[in-house]
Amino acid sequence: MIRVDALCHGYADQPSLIDVSFRVEAGEKLVLLGANGCGKSTLLKILAGLLAPRAGSVHYAGAEISPALLKRGEARRRFRREVGLLFQNPDVMLFNPTVYDEIAFGPRQLGLADADARARHWAAAVGVERYLSRPPFTLSGGEKQKVALAALLALEPKLLLLDEPAAALDPRTTGWLVDFLADLPVTLLTTTHQLALAGELGARALVLGEDHRLIYDGATDAFLSDMERLVAANLAHAHRHRHGALEHRHWHAHEWP
Ligand SMILES: Nc1ncnc2c1ncn2[C@@H]1O[C@H](COP(=O)(O)OP(=O)(O)OP(=O)(O)O)[C@@H](O)[C@H]1O
Ligand SMILES: [Mg+2]
Repeated sequence: MIRVDALCHGYADQPSLIDVSFRVEAGEKLVLLGANGCGKSTLLKILAGLLAPRAGSVHYAGAEISPALLKRGEARRRFRREVGLLFQNPDVMLFNPTVYDEIAFGPRQLGLADADARARHWAAAVGVERYLSRPPFTLSGGEKQKVALAALLALEPKLLLLDEPAAALDPRTTGWLVDFLADLPVTLLTTTHQLALAGELGARALVLGEDHRLIYDGATDAFLSDMERLVAANLAHAHRHRHGALEHRHWHAHEWP
């Protein structure tokens, strides 16, 4: 479904991705891990066709995602319908006057006859049906994230790219999201800094290093149990512990504290 070959990207003269290659089969669920600034959001935007690679290529369903392809009306519509990106900051995705309009926006744009039914179905599926008439900017951070997700799902995409979907969610809602995503019949690539969630979100992990290269592609569990790899990826933290008068410091990979 996705083939990334020797992908490079940079902003001005700063590299953000260097020589990244991987493949994803339809139906796989993967997590994308890495320290702040290593290039996760950039990679998702490239996969969604919003940024162009500086070198290398990205293929989706056998076709190269190139500026030329995204200019061709039919190919562009199909790609936009099949590939959805949930931004790290949901505010940039919400611009309609009501939650209902927000979720119905995509299906309406595509002229789908069942836009109304889809909006109501996906609003209920993510649990925001009671906010349908509210302006999105009046919602809490977690509610906005759910509305943004419902707006993507209303297009019934084949590939979902989720950038920190659990960042604004409380523990109960995070548990709900993990189960909800596990049951969704889509190919899924999700970023998270919550390592305790990583294994639940994907059996396979892609890990970007701070040098912007792909430093791991394999079983999530094996990565998470390898402290040397976690430290190399800057995904472990050390902090002081006090035991009475004694104080010491050691590595952790679990969430704080
Ligand atoms: N629009 C931009 N202009 C210039 N530099 C950018 C831009 N967007 C991102 N960068 C830089 O590119 C690098 C990769 O950023 P990116 O947002 O992809 O990281 P990330 O892995 O998603 O980080 P985080 O975990 O903090 O979300 C960072 O050094 C960042 O400062
Ligand atoms: Mg990011």
